[in-house]
Amino acid sequence: MQPADLQLNPLRSSNDRRLLRIAGPAALVIFGVTGDLAQRKLLPAIYDLANRGLLSPAFSLVGFGRREWSDQQFAEFVLTAVRNGARTPFRQKVWDQLAAGLRFVTGAFDDPDAYIALDDTLSELARTRGTRGNAAYYLSIPPRHFSAVCDHLARQGLANHDDQTWRRVVIEKPFGHDLRSAQALNAVVERVFAPDDIFRIDHYLGKETVQNILAFRFANSIFEPLWNANYVDHVQITMAEDIGIGGRAGYYDGIGAARDVIQNHLLQLLALTAMEEPTSLTPSALRREKIKVLGALGLPDDLAVHTARGQYLGGWQGGRQVRGYLDEEGIAPDSVTETYAAFRVDVHTRRWAGVPFYLRAGKRLGRRVTEIALVFKQIPQQLFGTHQTAALGPNALVIRVQPDEGITLRFGSKVPDTNMTVRDVSMDFTYGHSFAEASPEAYERLILDVLLGDPPLFPRHREVELGWQVLDPIEQFWASNGRPEGYRAGTWGPSSADRMLALDNREWRRP
Ligand code: BG6
Repeated sequence: MQPADLQLNPLRSSNDRRLLRIAGPAALVIFGVTGDLAQRKLLPAIYDLANRGLLSPAFSLVGFGRREWSDQQFAEFVLTAVRNGARTPFRQKVWDQLAAGLRFVTGAFDDPDAYIALDDTLSELARTRGTRGNAAYYLSIPPRHFSAVCDHLARQGLANHDDQTWRRVVIEKPFGHDLRSAQALNAVVERVFAPDDIFRIDHYLGKETVQNILAFRFANSIFEPLWNANYVDHVQITMAEDIGIGGRAGYYDGIGAARDVIQNHLLQLLALTAMEEPTSLTPSALRREKIKVLGALGLPDDLAVHTARGQYLGGWQGGRQVRGYLDEEGIAPDSVTETYAAFRVDVHTRRWAGVPFYLRAGKRLGRRVTEIALVFKQIPQQLFGTHQTAALGPNALVIRVQPDEGITLRFGSKVPDTNMTVRDVSMDFTYGHSFAEASPEAYERLILDVLLGDPPLFPRHREVELGWQVLDPIEQFWASNGRPEGYRAGTWGPSSADRMLALDNREWRRP
């Protein structure tokens, strides 16, 4: 972290361990500011940061887009997004302060004049608001435009900075659609920005419950001894969504569930779960361990039985009739894009030898839930008879990423009675019960970290490459092997996914 980026809250004494991390003066330029992500997540998160007092008074926000908008019209647009999406209450004073730093630059991504206008705007903000020339460019746009934007920023000198200032770029997934395209995309961005100035967003890493995996594993002594092949039978990582693709056909079709969320979010969850303890919490030490474990992943030989994919059919969900994927607006009637993907991956390290990791993600499933479940081995010798343990499953430790954030430990207990019967019970930690503090949204944390220049939560290019190395063979196999199996909306996915686990004598959890 560059010390110049960190302003300490003057209201707290210097030995207060809870010193707030407050971003220094800067402008944030959002390309694609009228898009869905900016409206739903980025703009509300910026307001929430301002409301929590975590942005500098000089903070300025520049929207870049085709619309012929004045700054005033842009401010109205931002206000609507804030009113609809902010987590914290609306306060006029905070809004007025933020609104004074809003600017809009009209132009197409490949229009050189627009970058001259952007240059002028950033200079004006440095003069009038004191942003000191610091700027982060947030590319919330399809990757096909990255090249034009980066080149124009470079040509206009907008990526240059001296020792006292910084210029950073923030990019959103998808980082390519396979290994080769990811490398090409990375080359485009690295032509202009240094690796330390590139922030790749994987919003799962901004979630409280995901950051807590490190605390849970490495700040406690009781779990780590069990965290290995001696005790763990297998691990299931699930990201189930009840929503369909909504209005995102243009993005989703041709991408599918595996590229959309497994290549990035789920493999990052796997890396945090399976990695060794880093020697410190510095970005490079953390990255080293994640890269080691991602580099140790291997797929089973027979992808026909160790992978599964599906596409949702019409059905009922939450008492509402919903349409099938092929009937969604903008989807070709013969699309083979999967909306459900599952596969087994093995971690070839001493800690995890013989412990399969099963990953699954899907849309229009029974319920929205993301969780990491460590399912433990059976005890070597069962004292109780089968009739006494009929309702006893394997012990499990479940990190509930969302919703209902927390951690559950499942184990057997005697049922109160004169008989001896053992049944599953659970011990729960729930954020809502244990903490008075509300969890910030992932994007609040990540935008703040970009402004602070604090990189641990942003995957490096190598991690992205390793993700594609796992996925590419599966995608190639699927591309030459027919269509995904249909599954009814509101169910738990295609039957091939159940067969995949049954083959290993296991079954999916029904969260
Ligand atoms: C995004 C995917 O990365 O994550 C979406 O592109 C998905 O398809 C979304 O719906 C889910 O995010 P969250 O935070 O609601 O789990």
